[in-house]
Amino acid sequence: MNKVRYGIVGVGKQGTFYTKIFTKLKGLVKGAELTAVCDIAEDRRKYAEQNLKGVKVFEDYHEMFKSGLIDAVMIETPHYFHPEIAIEAMRCGLNVLCDKPAGVYTAQVREMNEEAKKHPDLLFGMMFNQRTNPLYIRAKKIIESGELGKLTRIVWIITNWYRPKAYYAQGGWRGTWWGEGGGVLLNQCPHQLDLFTWLAGLPVSVTATTSTVGRAINVENDVTAYCKFENGATGVFITSTHDAPGTNRLEITGEGGKIVIEKGKLTFTKNAELEPVFSEHNTVFMGKPKTKKKTYRGICHYLNIKKYPPQHIGIIKNYTDYLLKKTDKFIAPGEEGIRGLTFSNAIHLAGWTHKEVSIPIDEERYICELEKRKQEEKASSLK
Ligand SMILES: NC(=O)c1ccc[n+]([C@@H]2O[C@H](COP(=O)([O-])OP(=O)(O)OC[C@H]3O[C@@H](n4cnc5c(N)ncnc54)[C@H](O)[C@@H]3O)[C@@H](O)[C@H]2O)c1
Repeated sequence: MNKVRYGIVGVGKQGTFYTKIFTKLKGLVKGAELTAVCDIAEDRRKYAEQNLKGVKVFEDYHEMFKSGLIDAVMIETPHYFHPEIAIEAMRCGLNVLCDKPAGVYTAQVREMNEEAKKHPDLLFGMMFNQRTNPLYIRAKKIIESGELGKLTRIVWIITNWYRPKAYYAQGGWRGTWWGEGGGVLLNQCPHQLDLFTWLAGLPVSVTATTSTVGRAINVENDVTAYCKFENGATGVFITSTHDAPGTNRLEITGEGGKIVIEKGKLTFTKNAELEPVFSEHNTVFMGKPKTKKKTYRGICHYLNIKKYPPQHIGIIKNYTDYLLKKTDKFIAPGEEGIRGLTFSNAIHLAGWTHKEVSIPIDEERYICELEKRKQEEKASSLK
């Protein structure tokens, strides 16, 4: 293969954004070409026909998959459909780049991962574009280097996903149990839930409150979760879509120091020696380990693109390069999509049941609780 022919399923807001990467920014992702798109909505197909020259437009993704026009599928529909479309694409011998979240509940994503295992020749990736952010890459490197020592705490306050009433008033699938399967945990936060577990691993248990504040929606837009890790470390994940102004601050503490990422900057405060070692020999009342500070800025030098966020382009470029064997580093393997979603499902379940939830979660209970909410939503809309 010397080029990758892409087909996009779903040319809504995000799908259309990607068509622009392929068309307006043509050449930026070398070796990538958009050859087909598909949407069940007539107006989106009309848009595609009028704006995407030389790109074949389909109504049914099955037809697009059988067309012989594409090598890789980008999935840009509402979340519930991600796993079933990915599974069908793999069965048709196509590579898959799935947008976040991997799905709504882990049982369906597990099925998608099982299918992927049957096709080791195909490339399965997730659009975890924030993994290309140099600050998170730096944090991962510091953790993996052992400099931070044993992790003791991770705290992420991510409350700057502000969404006003008008956002939810658009209607459709957003902000509903039937259409989206959740609120901020399923729509805005899959990036941070992926990064939280990418950096610190998957917790073993979660307690949480999930609530709806100040918006006429059924799903959660306010979450505070507390989690425990196998090594005794603890974590807190706080998110909302109604705080104004909001915060985006990640703190990762280990015995060797602390990483803070906030406002486009990573600060690594490194202890001169591990905290337990210091505490053992120190004799000074209120003594503290000596520290050294290093700061890194978040400019993405990977691709110098001003108009479009480099993150999504970074993932498409990496996916294309990996398929074309131009790199041996794959940023976001598809099978990893289940990790952040497991954390997300555990938070939901803990919030719904007001109980501590162990990971792996009870998947049947999850589906049952979600179904209950979908039924209640349906009943209230019929009133
Ligand atoms: N990675 C990111 O930064 C990012 C950003 C925004 C959205 N997303 C993800 O992209 C997905 C789509 O979000 P959106 O905002 O574009 O939604 P949207 O509603 O604007 O677009 C979805 C499109 O999918 C089409 N569709 C639905 N079912 C289909 C089917 N079976 N076959 C073909 N087309 C179908 C709809 O008609 C619609 O045009 C979501 O899962 C969302 O989480 C990712």
